[in-house]
Amino acid sequence: MIFESHAHYDDEAFAGDRDELLRSLPENGIDTVINVGASLESCRDTIALMERYSFVYGAIGVHPGSTGELDEQSLLWLREQCSLPKVVAVGEIGLDYHWPEPEPSVQKRWFERQLILAGEVNLPVVIHSRDAAKDTLDIMRGLHAEQMGGVVHCFSYTKEMAREYLDMDYYFGIGGVITFKNAKKLKEAAAYIPMDKILLETDSPYLSPEPNRGQRNSSLNLPYVAREIAAVKGMDYEEVLAATHQNAERLFRIGGQGGML
Ligand code: NI
Repeated sequence: MIFESHAHYDDEAFAGDRDELLRSLPENGIDTVINVGASLESCRDTIALMERYSFVYGAIGVHPGSTGELDEQSLLWLREQCSLPKVVAVGEIGLDYHWPEPEPSVQKRWFERQLILAGEVNLPVVIHSRDAAKDTLDIMRGLHAEQMGGVVHCFSYTKEMAREYLDMDYYFGIGGVITFKNAKKLKEAAAYIPMDKILLETDSPYLSPEPNRGQRNSSLNLPYVAREIAAVKGMDYEEVLAATHQNAERLFRIGGQGGML
């Protein structure tokens, strides 16, 4: 069975067929899904999805691009949601300097506050870091993020940067990008990262793998990602599914048949 560690099924891209698609996942081999919050609204929608589907769990947090909407009151609301039984992580949180807004000082402030929150509620974190490798690492080291544990989602940095996160015992979310022709750097990093630190993810509706690149992504495309990881690692496809499933269960503290450990 396949563990989808990062999807956004609350996204409007799924407005037309969300229920039909989600209902079809278990019969297609996807037995667990983490729906990841990215804004306050998507956190509310994530909670609704995890209450509706037994195999959907939630990560609650605000993406760096949406941190402009945060204030003390909304942070308090996020903290309350973290005590819901199917909320298994704080995320996605981090830094994204690809876009000019919100300015880095705002992004850093709320990244720090949400990291501290994760420590207080004893949940792992889902990290989003784009064009901000050094600042992300500096903040995580400064706040002892190795104590919360977590996953660097859509890992897009070098092997050298992977070593830094391995030092903190972090996991790495690998998705459709690894199937792209120009993914040399990521393939090198994936070859280097130990198999017990890799999670399968799509980031649906984004980053659809080959041969469906450019189309709306869904967890149904995860076999393409797992096959590419198997090729890079010289492993069997089934071994990749089993290892990544166990890794995600360990990180998010979810038991084999969808029950909580
Ligand atoms: Ni995401």
